[in-house]
Amino acid sequence: MYDFETLQDRRNIGAEKWAALDASGQAGPDIIPFSIADMEFMTAPPIVNALREKAELSVYGYTMADDEYLSAVCSWCKTRHRWTVLPNETVQTAGVVAAIGIAIRAFTEKGDGILIQPPVYAPFHRLPRSNERTLIENPLVLKNGRYEMDFEDLERKAALPNAKMMLLCSPHNPVGRVWTQEELLRVSEICNRHHILVFSDEIHFDLVYPPHVHTVYATLSDAARNQCIIGTAASKSFNLAGLATSNIIIQNQELRRKFRAQTYLEAGKLNNYFGLAATRAAYETGALWLDELLSYLSENQRHFARLLQRYFPRVTVFPLEGTYLLWADFQSFGLSPAQLEQFMIQDAALYLDEGAVFGAQGNGFERFNLACPRRYLTRAAERLDRAAEKRGLPR
Ligand SMILES: Cc1ncc(COP(=O)(O)O)c(C=O)c1O
Repeated sequence: MYDFETLQDRRNIGAEKWAALDASGQAGPDIIPFSIADMEFMTAPPIVNALREKAELSVYGYTMADDEYLSAVCSWCKTRHRWTVLPNETVQTAGVVAAIGIAIRAFTEKGDGILIQPPVYAPFHRLPRSNERTLIENPLVLKNGRYEMDFEDLERKAALPNAKMMLLCSPHNPVGRVWTQEELLRVSEICNRHHILVFSDEIHFDLVYPPHVHTVYATLSDAARNQCIIGTAASKSFNLAGLATSNIIIQNQELRRKFRAQTYLEAGKLNNYFGLAATRAAYETGALWLDELLSYLSENQRHFARLLQRYFPRVTVFPLEGTYLLWADFQSFGLSPAQLEQFMIQDAALYLDEGAVFGAQGNGFERFNLACPRRYLTRAAERLDRAAEKRGLPR
């Protein structure tokens, strides 16, 4: 049994979640953060041991992904995801977001169109814009309380003459969908026909709850594999984001050559000594810990959804198929996005990622990070209940 209950104090150590909360200037002493996608949990003990050993060496020079590291990555892809990856098909970058930026610059020109599916992770909006590309939105649609892709719209948008690339979020942050093989096949069929390069961001690929099964985009077909870049990392699954290490897997040789050249041009061959060690340890020794984490997160989801439904029957909580980020619709409160944010921080003392951050489709929604001790969730639901009662908000 691993420990998912002990809280380390992350205030004043530069932890982004807590620093952002303090910088907001609105945080009382007992505010609870449910923002930013890292976990409050301590990582798997074998990873900590591997890092201790590396630290003991006391020499932290330039480091490369060695054979053992690459073999750990490939074995993980094979055993966990039924995906055959060769060591030389991987490129290490300092994060998946960095890799998306590199891919945008390597494979598209200014003005080219990049497809995204809002509501979606904020850098998917930001990176095309900051690189002066044109954002093409193919919004997700709600059907019977479930988010789905709008394939007719995707077909139209992919056919636009300037459309060159698609940023796919799989599993999807923030709506929590694990795309089915059938859905992904339709995406690949459309993108391949229109020569759209797909960057499939699969950073959450290990965080999937049965009966849902993650399908790696590159395993769909030869055509899909030849026209995609897959972003992976151990960072979400094992809480290693601060170690800035990810594996970008590109099985088309020419695409990989171009991506690698752009990576070296922009960032050199720099890899993080500790990040490589932690990722290798995670993939070699972390499977049991991850399985327990998934059970704990799954129970967190059930617990919190039950409480929200009990206190707020008119708030829609979307089923979490993957990720630890729960998406909920608070439009029944009748508040503007700014009022909702203020209510959450000031009345309920909860610091959340506001839905609007993921695109206008998220107005009136909130994203809760469930990777925290369960008692936090109980407290959060009770606070929400009391705050809504005091304000006389509709239930
Ligand atoms: C879909 C998605 N991609 C990428 C990231 C961050 O990746 P990295 O820290 O490797 O840049 C996140 C973090 O929340 C995410 O949700």
